[in-house]
Amino acid sequence: MSNGLSMSQEEPKNQLQQPHEGASEGMVTHAEQKVPILADAKTTVTDKVLPLPGEPDCDYCENKRFVISSTGELKPCPRCNVAMMRKIEQLRAFSSLSPRTAQQNFDNFQTTFNGITDAVLELCLMQAKSFAENHENRWLVIWGSRGNGKSHLCASIYNHLIQRNIPAIFITFPELLTALKSTINKDATTEESYYERLNIFKTVPVLILDDVSAESSTPWSDNILFEIIDYRYRHLLSTVIVTNTELDLLEPRISSRLQDTTLCTIIENAAPDYRIRPLHVKKRQSFTPGIS
Ligand SMILES: Nc1ncnc2c1ncn2[C@@H]1O[C@H](COP(=O)(O)OP(=O)(O)OP(=O)(O)O)[C@@H](O)[C@H]1O
Ligand SMILES: [Mg+2]
Ligand SMILES: [Zn+2]
Repeated sequence: MSNGLSMSQEEPKNQLQQPHEGASEGMVTHAEQKVPILADAKTTVTDKVLPLPGEPDCDYCENKRFVISSTGELKPCPRCNVAMMRKIEQLRAFSSLSPRTAQQNFDNFQTTFNGITDAVLELCLMQAKSFAENHENRWLVIWGSRGNGKSHLCASIYNHLIQRNIPAIFITFPELLTALKSTINKDATTEESYYERLNIFKTVPVLILDDVSAESSTPWSDNILFEIIDYRYRHLLSTVIVTNTELDLLEPRISSRLQDTTLCTIIENAAPDYRIRPLHVKKRQSFTPGIS
């Protein structure tokens, strides 16, 4: 008598063989070859070939979601893009997102007040847009006083990248520290999960790190910040750093790297606090029905 297990083993086996046979001729003509297996030993054959619910069926990678490029690198399948989307979703959990950040973008960043354009804010906006459009091997460092749109620009960069399926994390440094601390003393895999999580911040393709500060820093937090910054600095990984602290007043190892002008674009945002600007000069006032 057949049981559920043997049924489920046989059915997908047929599904696995068909695409292999049908696709074998065409495969060699592709610039990218197909990946024969996945490394995850726990993954069953069934899991490898059946698309997960909600994910597309892809003949190109046979739902393995990765392909081997002509240079031998394992790459997310460029046809179905599922591996990239999974990564973006995974990284979203590490980002400091909120209803406010969801609404912040370059279009609603105001640079003109009462008909007068603020050159500093124009420059900040221009540099943030430039980074979002062309982030490879670049760092953007924005420092300045409270409430003048630094985090708004971070969120705008993040939203711009995510809309283009570029994996990124936007997180405040205090929240990054909390995310690391939360892995400690939880279970037997503590050490592994701590370093795994730290590694995510070190290696994510684009890291937007907000609220870096000299205030309330400790030797531990300084070391964490240094480890992330130094790794990303050595590997030329795209990074945005935002701080209220004058760069020279940050911990010297960090301050020095943030001021390397071969890598970093540094801007001081010296605009006034937007939060306390009079309501009538704020752009959204003009969108209020009945008020011109
Ligand atoms: N130029 C601007 N145009 C539109 N909204 C702005 C502008 N500057 C700031 N805001 C809004 O004002 C609020 C405060 O801005 P934001 O949080 O970006 O400031 P910040 O520089 O990060 O401040 P802090 O240093 O206190 O973290 C946000 O709601 C933001 O959307
Ligand atoms: Mg901020
Ligand atoms: Zn695919």
